[in-house]
Amino acid sequence: MKTILDLDTGIDDALALAYALGSPELELIGVTGTYGNVLMKDGVANDLSLLDLFGRQDVPVFHGEPHASTKDGFEVLEISAFIHGRNGIGEVDLPASQRSVDERGAVDFLVDSVREHGDDLVIVATGPMTNLAAAIDRDPEFAANARIVIMGGALTVPGNVRPWAEANINQDPEAADKLFRSGADVTMIGLDVTLQTLLTYEETKQWRELGTEAGRVLADMTDYYIKAYDTTAPHLGGCGLHDPLAVGVAVDPSLVTVIEHNMKVDVDGETRGRTIGDEVRLNDPEKNVKVAVGVDVERFLSEFMSRIGSVAARG
Ligand code: BDR
Ligand code: CA
Repeated sequence: MKTILDLDTGIDDALALAYALGSPELELIGVTGTYGNVLMKDGVANDLSLLDLFGRQDVPVFHGEPHASTKDGFEVLEISAFIHGRNGIGEVDLPASQRSVDERGAVDFLVDSVREHGDDLVIVATGPMTNLAAAIDRDPEFAANARIVIMGGALTVPGNVRPWAEANINQDPEAADKLFRSGADVTMIGLDVTLQTLLTYEETKQWRELGTEAGRVLADMTDYYIKAYDTTAPHLGGCGLHDPLAVGVAVDPSLVTVIEHNMKVDVDGETRGRTIGDEVRLNDPEKNVKVAVGVDVERFLSEFMSRIGSVAARG
């Protein structure tokens, strides 16, 4: 299956990238950059460096929108810098890539790819939905033909950056609301399930013990992330594998159980950024989103370790 990753890289975005590269079912045709954990251009620089590290310079990378269309700019939140480090990858030093981004912007690449590949393509978005909303605006056919798995939102649990809001949706609630209402085939992998899939130092140790540079980098950055979780959410006992789970579901939807629901995002008032069922369309027989509410934790963790392990072992 052809795949595009839309990333704000980001430690768990980096793990999502490695998961995709370690999945023979997926053919990664491009990485589009968004802002969130870091500035868009810093996330893109991380993507290029990580693709170098993993020996995948053949994968093109695209600059995306640098901020929400409802805003004039974007600054990294303190909480993001705390969780992912100022450089987005846990202060791990990676050589800057000699490669440059593709000339086409992310939104054009998304639109062209959906036109060309239709349902032989899955887009996995693990940052704010700004690029996707721009693609919906640019091409009236985009939504009807796109298959999208997002990491974002929370239906049955509270948010993580505010009581109502999950980080990716919080950055651009209007974009996520547009995506939900667009008619696109959307699967929502939210905190409901991603906070059940946890990683500990036990697992990262296995990557370090491979003795490869990729294994060391993945272990060092993920240890930074686990340490941040020890402070922000000590009750979990590990870090949430948010973004890799979205890629896992793109490979194998049976990893999660979903409810089909007509979702919306609150854009006003104190619940701004909340992902919730739309009371107006509660009885509409057509549902707009598959919301993951259960996950086969053991099976996912075993897939995660073997796929990341295969990438870490290569170089
Ligand atoms: C999401 O927010 C970002 O910090 C992570 O990379 C993930 O995509 C979790 O809420
Ligand atoms: Ca992310």
